[in-house]
Amino acid sequence: MQLGLPHPIKIKKSPKKAEDFTRLPEHVAIIMDGNGRWAKNHHYSVSKGHKQGTETLREIIRHTDDLGIHSLSLYAFSTENWSRPVEEVNALMQLILDFFASEIDELDAKNVRIRILGDKSRLPEKQRTTLVLAEERTAHNTGLNLNIAINYGGRAEIVRAAQILALRAQRGELDPRTITEEDFSNCLYTAGQSDVDLLIRTSGEMRLSNFFLYQCAYAEFTFPKVLWPDFTIADYDSALESFSGRQRRFGGRQ
Ligand code: FPP
Repeated sequence: MQLGLPHPIKIKKSPKKAEDFTRLPEHVAIIMDGNGRWAKNHHYSVSKGHKQGTETLREIIRHTDDLGIHSLSLYAFSTENWSRPVEEVNALMQLILDFFASEIDELDAKNVRIRILGDKSRLPEKQRTTLVLAEERTAHNTGLNLNIAINYGGRAEIVRAAQILALRAQRGELDPRTITEEDFSNCLYTAGQSDVDLLIRTSGEMRLSNFFLYQCAYAEFTFPKVLWPDFTIADYDSALESFSGRQRRFGGRQ
């Protein structure tokens, strides 16, 4: 008989509540990185990695809502992601459809407002329709503001804002010399929303990858080493805890 060592007992931490934090961010942005590496580590297809990543996404949205955080922004598909193998792009497009089919009732019932950030015109018609319907259906909701960036690029967003303002100036609707930061940010996909307070990028990579270049001007960053499909509520709570201890000066001295 082989006397094996006992299996290590994994103690699951219970999710934190809003009152457990001294301070919570108003706006959290997440770069959900590591699906591909997770899949490789498990000898699965990349698509399976993204599918597992969608499970994490569901949990994180629920917990964000439970904590009463105002806005959550998720980087789901970048303008550069079209260059990935066609099977992977197709799998991601299908996951978008599956996600909305399974989640929209619950999100709407929880008063979540969905906004899609990015250029929808390049998306297949089915996806475009689904996304527009989700935005329309939740347009009057006043709870968690959920931004999902799809076919989004930070530089393209900034160029688009410049174009909008230039066209207005050309039409004589505004004087270019009086353009303010507020005017500019009102031409971004996140018009009217607050800047990002906390940006989380999973998988240990430490870069922005063309996400929210303007909105992250004063964001606090955290780079947990865990791959997105393995990212737990406890990992999320740790990132939020780390934010609550940060001293933010916004360029000042206080
Ligand atoms: C980055 O991991 C992740 C993505 C490019 C896609 C993220 C998408 C989801 C989590 C699910 C789909 C979204 C919705 C809204 C249903 P990677 O593949 O670059 O990972 P790697 O760096 O390990 O290869």
